[in-house]
Amino acid sequence: MCGIIGYVGKQRAVNILLEGLKRVEYRGYDSSGIAVLEKGQLAVVKKTGRVEALAKIAAPRKFRATTGIGHTRWATHGGVTDANAHPHLSSDGKFALIHNGVIENYVGMKRFLIEKGFTFQSETDTEALVNLIAYHFQKEPANGDRSRFLESVRKALLHVEGTYGIAVLCTDFPSEIVAARKGSPLILGVGDGEHIVASDVSALISRTQNVVYLNDGEVVHITEKGFSLSTIQDQEEVAPKFDRVSWKIEDAELGAFAHFMEKEIFEQPVALENTMRGRFSDDGSTAKFGGLNLTAGDLRQIDRLVFCACGTAWHSCLVAEQLIERYARIPVEVEYASEFRYRNAPLDKNTLVFVVTQSGETLDTLEALREAKRKGYKVMAVVNVVGSTIAREADGGIYQHAGPEVGVASTKAFTSQLIVGAMLALYLGRLRDMSYTDGVEYVKALKHIPELIKQALAQAPHIKAIAKRYAHHRDFLFLGRQSMFPIALEGALKLKEISYIHAEGYPAAEMKHGPIALISPECPTVFFAPAGEMYPKLLSSIQEIKARNGKVIVITTTGSEIPDGLADERIDLPACHDAVLPLVATIPVQLLSYYIAAELGRDVDKPRNLAKSVTVE
Ligand code: M6R
Repeated sequence: MCGIIGYVGKQRAVNILLEGLKRVEYRGYDSSGIAVLEKGQLAVVKKTGRVEALAKIAAPRKFRATTGIGHTRWATHGGVTDANAHPHLSSDGKFALIHNGVIENYVGMKRFLIEKGFTFQSETDTEALVNLIAYHFQKEPANGDRSRFLESVRKALLHVEGTYGIAVLCTDFPSEIVAARKGSPLILGVGDGEHIVASDVSALISRTQNVVYLNDGEVVHITEKGFSLSTIQDQEEVAPKFDRVSWKIEDAELGAFAHFMEKEIFEQPVALENTMRGRFSDDGSTAKFGGLNLTAGDLRQIDRLVFCACGTAWHSCLVAEQLIERYARIPVEVEYASEFRYRNAPLDKNTLVFVVTQSGETLDTLEALREAKRKGYKVMAVVNVVGSTIAREADGGIYQHAGPEVGVASTKAFTSQLIVGAMLALYLGRLRDMSYTDGVEYVKALKHIPELIKQALAQAPHIKAIAKRYAHHRDFLFLGRQSMFPIALEGALKLKEISYIHAEGYPAAEMKHGPIALISPECPTVFFAPAGEMYPKLLSSIQEIKARNGKVIVITTTGSEIPDGLADERIDLPACHDAVLPLVATIPVQLLSYYIAAELGRDVDKPRNLAKSVTVE
């Protein structure tokens, strides 16, 4: 949560900060602000609302400064007010600080600082840190030492319990920034005569593709001459490891679409092609993953898999569970990362842990990974964002290569996770009992996915019309069995997060154990009823809804017969292999939620109260 950016270079900082903030705004959008060093003084502009509102008041000030910091906030401590927006200044006016994370011990820190004469203007935890830096600065010998700024930040950080990605300005060092991280992402972009620190590659990609991903516990000191990297704890110099970002700014542009969510839904045929690219064996009977760092022999020893994730990524794990158990016959458990990290789950030595995450920065998932590693288990990560913390801390893994996902509601990252799960089931299955012939058939089915997704997307106008008819309802049920159950959960999550309509996902047969009480003409059901052996049972459940005057939107397979009067609306899916069905069935519910939210005039890409990557507990 919260997007941060800092700039040291030769250009006007404000323009670069505002552009960068617009690109990381999906991380938090309650309020935003910038601070620049203008003629030796700190100038701060901050405002509740979107970055657009900030730009309107900052641009006319025509700041000439070439060093500055900017922040877009997802409130944790203190309400959404101008005063609580970042940057925060130390009460002596010497320091400005932006922060992504939570300072857990800020209350004691604040008490101490008030006793020392510091004053506070906000209710935030962050203001305690900026004043603590000022306190240490005052204690440092003022002998013109260039490291005094860095040392004050470092000393203050040694007292912090919690998480942070910070960037700090100091009036005494006008062309410098000190930035550091612990538990919140921070990336340094090294451009032509300029340096940018940001919480997200998208904030700096328009300036440079050369980046250094900071590790937890590292601090970077940027000056006009360059930068130095060291550890916060021991002041040890760290040799920077340069990486090159593989995507370009155009990949994160809206183009002709109304929203990023819409763009990302329609990008799925290409995104999924990219997830699969180069990952099939030459004989076309299995998958291969370069990044797993485990031999076939190692994988044959595995007798249990544990998947940890949050939100939509967790739903993808539920699908992976079904496919892996079915095709590889390995028992799988799926855990909410937020629960796993605290519940001290017993794992045995042949257990392999997977964490699944689009952003690679979700704190609960990161801590689940650390907990499993602490217990000595190998942890593999399925991650979309290259270079993210989880990607770097995992023992191995699989990049999704779905491209940047900007919409807060995950779409293409979800289906890409489904593909990875399906490919894992194939790979593990072929290491065990799956025959060559079945493997070849499975691979063919996977390769057909982009085409199937295109066919599902072609129904967009039909689904849009349904969305218009149903957008006024305040409650929805999503029901499905077997591999359609996780897709029912995902459909319900998509609808509620972007349209604010209450929706619940259930296994269809569970309906009669409680949710059936909700059925009425006011509470429509989205019912997954693909052709297959369960089909007659699914029709019986639909009958039960119709008997209670419920409206039903049936998602079924082209050609399947639905008795008259059962479906108020019908959406057809192309017939496909079982391993591919969850992917194809996802498309209609993504489109339905998107069109309902758009019909209601919701802020689809930045729904209220949410943020794209949740880096707080
Ligand atoms: O980046 P991650 O995949 O770890 O994010 C996990 C969840 O926060 C995320 O999937 C969330 O549920 C999305 N808003 C769903 O659309």
